[in-house]
Amino acid sequence: MCGIVGYIGDKEAYPIIIKGLHRLEYRGYDSAGVALLNGSLNVYKCKGKVSDLETFAKEKDKKGNIGIGHTRWATHGEPNDVNAHPHCSQSGDIVLIHNGIIENYAPIKQELKKRSYVFKSETDTEVLVNLIEDIKKNESVSLFEAVRIALNQVVGAYAIVVFEKSNPDELIAAKKGSPLVIGVGEKEFFIGSDATPIVEYTKNVIYLEDEEIAVLKRSGEIKIKTIKNKAKTPYIEELEMKLDTLEKGGFPHFMLKEIYEQPRSIKDSMRGRLNATKGTVNLGGIADYEKAFVNAKRIIIIGCGTSWHAGLVAEYLFEDLARIPVEVEYASEFRYRNPVIHEDDVVIAISQSGETADTLAAIELAKSKGATIIGICNVVGSSIPRATHAGSYTHAGPEIGVASTKAFTAQITILTLMALQIAQAKGTLSRTKFHELINELNVIPEKVQAVLERNKEIEAIAKIYKDARNALYLGRGYTFPVALEGALKLKEISYIHAEGYPAAEMKHGPIALIDENMPVFVIATQGTSYEKVVSNIQEVKARKGKIIAVVTEGDTVVKGLADYTIEVPQADEHLVPLIAVIPLQLLSYHVAVMRGCNVDQPRNLAKSVTVE
Ligand code: G6P
Repeated sequence: MCGIVGYIGDKEAYPIIIKGLHRLEYRGYDSAGVALLNGSLNVYKCKGKVSDLETFAKEKDKKGNIGIGHTRWATHGEPNDVNAHPHCSQSGDIVLIHNGIIENYAPIKQELKKRSYVFKSETDTEVLVNLIEDIKKNESVSLFEAVRIALNQVVGAYAIVVFEKSNPDELIAAKKGSPLVIGVGEKEFFIGSDATPIVEYTKNVIYLEDEEIAVLKRSGEIKIKTIKNKAKTPYIEELEMKLDTLEKGGFPHFMLKEIYEQPRSIKDSMRGRLNATKGTVNLGGIADYEKAFVNAKRIIIIGCGTSWHAGLVAEYLFEDLARIPVEVEYASEFRYRNPVIHEDDVVIAISQSGETADTLAAIELAKSKGATIIGICNVVGSSIPRATHAGSYTHAGPEIGVASTKAFTAQITILTLMALQIAQAKGTLSRTKFHELINELNVIPEKVQAVLERNKEIEAIAKIYKDARNALYLGRGYTFPVALEGALKLKEISYIHAEGYPAAEMKHGPIALIDENMPVFVIATQGTSYEKVVSNIQEVKARKGKIIAVVTEGDTVVKGLADYTIEVPQADEHLVPLIAVIPLQLLSYHVAVMRGCNVDQPRNLAKSVTVE
């Protein structure tokens, strides 16, 4: 994880770097630092957020038009001032920031210690910067060459930016496994872990590939080589990102803004793909792979966190509509399980960031066994879409709040379109049902909007349960993954212990926890399991549990049983997850705000998990 920023050009580097670090803070926020060169090399770093770094550096000399900055999510060594990046080499000549993990840092460190290197921090990064220094000295090579040789010796993942005190005219950047984007301006370069620190300065970007090193010169020249010393031609792409999507736009938190964006983001996911008037669904990104789906004996869906929950919804969709067996796997388990993968398997990898290390590794594994890999990602140009055979972007726009909201509904939208397209190609769905579903999907944004308008009611319920110590979320069929997602939202931002369960499974364990203090959130919308869920509600009531139910407008039965209900518009049960999750997102948001939690940056979490 971690966010890295770099600048070289005519402008003052510090304001660019600080602004960039704020944009990247979603990637980690336990410590931050900058290094600026202006005759002398000034390194400022401290524990805490980027704003703490700004306070720390307030009275200090921040001049310089070359510099690097880092916001950290600790892997090696606790978050403190010393372990914060940038890290300097022993002589103080070379300075480096790093996102990733150097797995073989221990033997390298031992070796360097024998050569009288002394380490101040517990980080793998300080090992790397000293390795570079050692190579540079012993082999009398340039910094670029020393970095290249060093990177051939390390095992693990890295995105690094490095420069040296004696050369104010060059920044060196390299990556493997962790993302790195270079913004190309007029005789200036910007570097970021993603394009968000770059977008307001230039639309021209280069996505560095794995094992590539770039040297960025003040003159405007850029050279890229692989770590095996093969020259590469820089490929400049145009950014599509809009600046206003990176601001809070009047909302107190990004999470709330992103919850409210869902009517639009769902529409954007469908734009150009669903045509309700003509009655067509066409995900262009998978057009060439439709046959692979049609012939697939099995679909394997991989993802982590919220993306895995979207995969669970897709399991119901693909099995129900396209009659293809589906397995949904945690990428982190799948990759190490020696899974059975056939050439006629289709693997769908779901990831908001497109950078999750476990998902990426699971893709590589499945690819090596000959399966077809389809990606569903939000961040354009990220690593996962580039590692897959084909796929569809969700087009939800940048998601900054660490707790995923609009990315989840966008993923489900794409998965629904995909299941419909494949069902049509396979002939497993009647024309009438196909048209009914696309007409319904087309109006989902309005239904989501209607749920958002119940925000005040939801806030009032949040107030009643904000001090709960535990919570249970129940759903069945299509709403079971929604229960999991509701529980995840609550625990990740408000630190209340919450569990999601299939409603009927409650009897096999969680029922033991129910007492008069336990809020049980039940998704009891109309659908095939409705009556069964009603019985599960009775079971909770019989044990004095408190029921807060999400119900379909006009419901009377559950209303008569529940302590509180939140109505959502009627929808076909295939599409219910898209609207039933909205009140649960809002509820978690309000609980977290009332408990004084940092909603956008919950403790210990990061948005982009580029370590396994
Ligand atoms: C982290 C984030 C979650 C996200 C998960 C998977 O845990 O905090 O919001 O669902 O990673 O990330 P991805 O980018 O692959 O969807």
